[in-house]
Amino acid sequence: MTVDTHTTGETAGARGPARPDGLAGLDEDARPLEVVVAARRRVADGVVALELARIDGAPLPPYTPGSHVDLHLGNGQVRQYSLCGDPDDTSRYRVAILRVDESRGGSRHVHTRIREGLHLLMSPPKNNFPLAADAPHTVLFAGGIGVTPLLAMARELAAHGRSFEIHYRARDRGRLAFAQELRDLAGPGRLHTYTDDDPASAADFDAVAAVRAAGEGAHVYVCGPRGFMDHVEDAARRAGTPEERVHEENFANDVDLTGTPFTVVAARSGVTATVAADRTVAETLRDHGVQVRTSCETGVCGTCLTKVLAGVPDHRDVFQSPAQQRANTAVTLCCSRARTEELVVDI
Ligand code: FES
Repeated sequence: MTVDTHTTGETAGARGPARPDGLAGLDEDARPLEVVVAARRRVADGVVALELARIDGAPLPPYTPGSHVDLHLGNGQVRQYSLCGDPDDTSRYRVAILRVDESRGGSRHVHTRIREGLHLLMSPPKNNFPLAADAPHTVLFAGGIGVTPLLAMARELAAHGRSFEIHYRARDRGRLAFAQELRDLAGPGRLHTYTDDDPASAADFDAVAAVRAAGEGAHVYVCGPRGFMDHVEDAARRAGTPEERVHEENFANDVDLTGTPFTVVAARSGVTATVAADRTVAETLRDHGVQVRTSCETGVCGTCLTKVLAGVPDHRDVFQSPAQQRANTAVTLCCSRARTEELVVDI
């Protein structure tokens, strides 16, 4: 999670067995909803939670744990945030955002400009990070603000009396957003917190042991900074958990957008253009009048995923799984490039 580097609560891309087929987002026509910031409160050091309700008071669409929305921040930026409220309460959604000053500015804008009463546009919820319905046990690993989708999962698991545990790691105790809420949901012994300002707890963090102890058939979910997710995924591998039972939610992708120039052909638009070394396909096509929908612009959300008709992409995204990338049937236009001199896409 580059962010731009580190997670801000922004989310979008997920990897796991229940993912879309790799073409998710191609034909989505999700009209934004008009919402009002019904409440705004600080929930941890550097973290604010926003409650969003329909301006007309109507219920919001139902959603499942792991879902996120695209929030239009009113300054031209669109950011993805996991829903971390109660899915049974469709009168309002809740999102939480960590301020990261060295990011592209979305989180700073939320923290400094977005107040109660402000009207915003928001997409309907999408879920790229769903809970498996039949897991005998579920292990949730949260790194910092990555707790947000996992909080919704914990609520669901607790509500249905299902077996689960949460391992929640943060820089210090003041940054453990929603810790009391999780404690109440999880009950005794199921929430484990680890913070760097409590060296004993930090030393206790042992993802391999946690996954091993979870037993046969357990599913593992992880969300947080890239290094944390890599660590948990590696631990799950070492513990022998099959890949299809390990699920991750990406926040951002430290992507290099530059490379060798190549030709892009937008077949449906009848446009052929050269993608310069320092321009993206999306930027190039827009320069030539082609409308390209983007959101994260770092290869995590899948909004710009487009069918490949000819040529071989140089995949730079983290939205598609390695297998989906190897299939070369779709490409993210915001960040990926081409391995061939020409790339023909269905737009
Ligand atoms: Fe998000 Fe391209 S993957 S806009």
